[in-house]
Amino acid sequence: MKGLILSGGKGTRLRPITYTGAKQLVPVANKPVLFYAIEDLVEAGITDVGIVIGDTGDQIRAAVGDGSQFGARVTYIPQEAPLGLAHGVKISQDFLGEEPFVLFLGDNFIRDGIVPLVEEFRTSGANCQLLLYRVPNPEAFGVADVRGNRILKVVEKPQIPPSDLAIIGIYMFDHHVFEAIREIKPSARGELEITDTIQVLIDWGLTVVPKIITGWWIDTGKHADMLEANRLILETQEPATHGMVDGKSQIYGRVVIQKGAEIRNSVIRGPAIIGEETQVIDSYIGPFTSIYHHCLIEGSEIEHSIILENSRVVDVPHRIEESLIGRNVEISRSPIKPRAYKFMLGDYSKVGIL
Ligand code: G1P
Repeated sequence: MKGLILSGGKGTRLRPITYTGAKQLVPVANKPVLFYAIEDLVEAGITDVGIVIGDTGDQIRAAVGDGSQFGARVTYIPQEAPLGLAHGVKISQDFLGEEPFVLFLGDNFIRDGIVPLVEEFRTSGANCQLLLYRVPNPEAFGVADVRGNRILKVVEKPQIPPSDLAIIGIYMFDHHVFEAIREIKPSARGELEITDTIQVLIDWGLTVVPKIITGWWIDTGKHADMLEANRLILETQEPATHGMVDGKSQIYGRVVIQKGAEIRNSVIRGPAIIGEETQVIDSYIGPFTSIYHHCLIEGSEIEHSIILENSRVVDVPHRIEESLIGRNVEISRSPIKPRAYKFMLGDYSKVGIL
């Protein structure tokens, strides 16, 4: 089997972070979201992986390389515009050939990996297997109508959902999917929808089987989902210290301190992760916080947040919570009079003040 990861897309729901960076490279527990998808595929024995890339392709290539760091062989497939998930599959036909494959959306996460699911698909003889997850808001996703071990119908973001079973962005197909894509037309949002493609497979009487997932699933497209994924991953990490912690600091619980990090006169209450070469000085880092590489946190308190690389948080008088802070950001006390909030914020920034 082969793997196909879709990693184009604009990430509009994660602006402003995604103005400058690919949404699939935003780190969760200090590892880009996309890496979890590659690792899931490799764990399931799938090492021949295609990655469909868009505007942020150069960043994705730089981060993933030839895939050897994951034990995979990666082929990049450029998509000229975000024309839909099914379009991403269509342009990958040469790479995929006749082999069955796993289609993985680069911002989707499931806790338990895909090993048994791939095995089941391999042995089932089904033409397509969908992973489903019960959600309180099915209208925000593709939704499946299931009877026993068959899927009768799938609909994209229906106003009146036929069930509460959302279609997870991890699909398994055989080669029939290419013929089905040729049958569909762009949807109202101007995209070739994978959901419409699956409906064609069903209409042709091919076998489309459901697999309901019980461990958690997160589509990390939005700020709150990102923080939630970060929380869930951090909870499972094993504590480790590869950096320096001075005698005046205290570390509690599941805390990972990465290479070259320095903790001075600070308290870190896990689960949390402190990135490479990051300095934490006279500060408190609370549970569910990931601070990425080359940051400085000084005289400040942070909890339940993600901070990307090279950012500085210095002498902030109130605790920072539930925040997603981008790269090269600086938050500090205004150094000169008049004492006032002084902002330099990009489009779509969000600031909550006390
Ligand atoms: C896409 C699919 C949808 C699926 C979702 C999973 O939605 O179209 O069927 O449920 O991914 O993440 P999108 O993220 O494009 O809105």
